[in-house]
Amino acid sequence: MATHKLLLLPGDGIGPEVAVEVEKVAKFMGQAGIASFEIERGLVGGIAYDTHGQSISEDHMKLAHDADAVLFGAVGGPKWDAVPYDVRPEAGLLRLRKDLQLFANLRPAICYPALADASSLKREIVEDLDIMIVRELTGGVYFGEPKQIIDLGNGQKRGIDTQVYDTYEIERIGRVAFELARKRNNKVTSSEKRNVMKSGVLWNEVITALHKREYADVTLEHQLADSLGMQLVRWPKQFDVIVTDNLFGDMLSDVAAMLTGSLGMLPSASLGETNPKTGKRKALYEPVHGSAPDIAGKGIANPIAMIGSFGMALRYSFGLGAAADLVEKAISAVLDAGLRTADIKGAATSTVSTVEMGEAILAELKKLA
Ligand code: IPM
Ligand code: MG
Repeated sequence: MATHKLLLLPGDGIGPEVAVEVEKVAKFMGQAGIASFEIERGLVGGIAYDTHGQSISEDHMKLAHDADAVLFGAVGGPKWDAVPYDVRPEAGLLRLRKDLQLFANLRPAICYPALADASSLKREIVEDLDIMIVRELTGGVYFGEPKQIIDLGNGQKRGIDTQVYDTYEIERIGRVAFELARKRNNKVTSSEKRNVMKSGVLWNEVITALHKREYADVTLEHQLADSLGMQLVRWPKQFDVIVTDNLFGDMLSDVAAMLTGSLGMLPSASLGETNPKTGKRKALYEPVHGSAPDIAGKGIANPIAMIGSFGMALRYSFGLGAAADLVEKAISAVLDAGLRTADIKGAATSTVSTVEMGEAILAELKKLA
């Protein structure tokens, strides 16, 4: 049985609460003889700032570089609203993405039939939805320079962010989207704002050329990002794989989350390039929900997105597709059985805690394995 090195970064808010549940699932994989996981812990976000004045320390960055995969909880909260911009909690996450070169962010939005009523949209619109948002994660306006506020000296200031994309960045994220589509329903929708942005014009050109050159067997559509946002809530089942830039991907994936019933349901994988020599790639797995400071410490957070993120690690980092299927089936089974955390309560009459949900998924896994 192979042993894999995981770095667990629970972070802030509900991060540590959901991290406890994912550890149980990882441990179970060892007991079941599927794969064993050596788990190290590190600090990121506000808790890292409180401990050593940085949103992630050099030592813990090194742990992340050395791990086979990073499991990330969440960062941030009102407690750190006033800390300097460079060491704010989110900077730790952005540094991990940038330094590990995790350019491909996969955000699947799957609506389990049992949860169709928890969505704010009608059942027929979201039931059985299965789409994949592929978000570019190391470029665009998140990292473009200059990025600053300058004093104009006349009582005015100017805030500047730079949206910038090079051909290679668009091509490599496009490839990820086309490859995924081939294993799914063979359709990619590429999204930008070419009607107002030069980076959007280039994005559209590069994706179109890549498609023609290497992926003509895949259906390709282009939609302006505002229109895609509208279509996502109008008829989301028209999509299979959506590929878009860092900022649009951030927004559109939050929208997609609500199609599934709750932000507490969405896992994600952030992947680097595969090393041709070792066949390995750097990777970080995190739930799309944030630190949810309003419910932190209450033991009511939904651990499904975090456990689902570990499922993605099994699939994308460790080649354990069957074990990943098992995790998804276990989640599906507890939902079918009617278990609900507060965020997915819908019409249910009672809810369970974070720990109860985690334990129920574990019990289901034991049954299935
Ligand atoms: C996300 C989050 C992050 C982002 C924040 C926490 C920096 O919203 O992963 O979607 O904007 O990328
Ligand atoms: Mg976001």
